[in-house]
Amino acid sequence: MPKEKPELSDAMRKKMGGKPPEKKPIKGTKFTIAISSAKGGVGKSTFAANLALALKSIGCKVGLLDADIYGPSIPKMFDINEKPKSDGQTLTPIIKYEIQCMSIGFLADQQTPMIWRGPMVTSAIKTFTQKVSWKDLDFIIVDMPPGTGDTQLTFATEIKMDGAIIVSTPQEIALLDVKRGIKMFDKLGVKIIGLVDNMSHFVGDDGKIYNIFGEEGVKRTAKEFEKEFLGKIPINPEVGKQSDMGKPIVESNPSHEISKIYLNFAEKIKSLYLK
Ligand SMILES: Nc1ncnc2c1ncn2[C@@H]1O[C@H](COP(=O)(O)OP(=O)(O)OP(=O)(O)O)[C@@H](O)[C@H]1O
Ligand SMILES: [Mg+2]
Repeated sequence: MPKEKPELSDAMRKKMGGKPPEKKPIKGTKFTIAISSAKGGVGKSTFAANLALALKSIGCKVGLLDADIYGPSIPKMFDINEKPKSDGQTLTPIIKYEIQCMSIGFLADQQTPMIWRGPMVTSAIKTFTQKVSWKDLDFIIVDMPPGTGDTQLTFATEIKMDGAIIVSTPQEIALLDVKRGIKMFDKLGVKIIGLVDNMSHFVGDDGKIYNIFGEEGVKRTAKEFEKEFLGKIPINPEVGKQSDMGKPIVESNPSHEISKIYLNFAEKIKSLYLK
């Protein structure tokens, strides 16, 4: 296998008198928004999928880019089992629920683990951002993997990102990672739209609120870093159930109280970007 050329860091490039790489926009979309959180399992993919569907339902044209190369979720959440077509140059996104979707899971057997090194992940991200024929979109919602690794770095340094939403659960252990994630985007000049408190609490049949993972942790973190707190999404088993069945709650039950929360987030994003 040919040896991959090591990428130059901005610092090295500066020393050599060169400019940092220009951030390229993704062709075919007006805005690119990342859904991130350095922590795993906090609900990024669920949020990305439902936000994309909520934006669509209020009239936006939306793409959903699953940037999780090692653990893609969108094929299952959108119940997509087909392979994207290619003309040898570009890949055509798969359209489901009127959303243009792309995921490594469409190209590889989903049960086979991806055993890829960093440069290969970077090159997959470049393919998804430069060689997919996204068409006439208002937004591409990017579902980020956990961590602050190659994927986040590639997006933040090489691709024109218009904003990032940070999703977290309220536990201190999750917030520690989230703080790392915030610092990374701040350092790399990616605008953080705000923080979302997912699985913030549980409302029992008796109407009582149970703060299972602690209270107000995400709001506090937003304040600490001078970011906007966008709101809470309670734990509701319907959310997971609908995603597991391949039709996220906003699509399967748009009048559900949780769907209404996603719709509010979508209205906010739409009003921020599409004046
Ligand atoms: N508000 C919610 N109520 C109940 N379950 C939820 C909620 N949000 C997410 N979940 C569930 O939590 C689990 C993790 O969600 P998800 O896969 O979206 O997290 P993630 O942050 O994308 O994980 P990873 O870091 O592995 O990519 C899933 O089973 C999902 O259905
Ligand atoms: Mg995920």
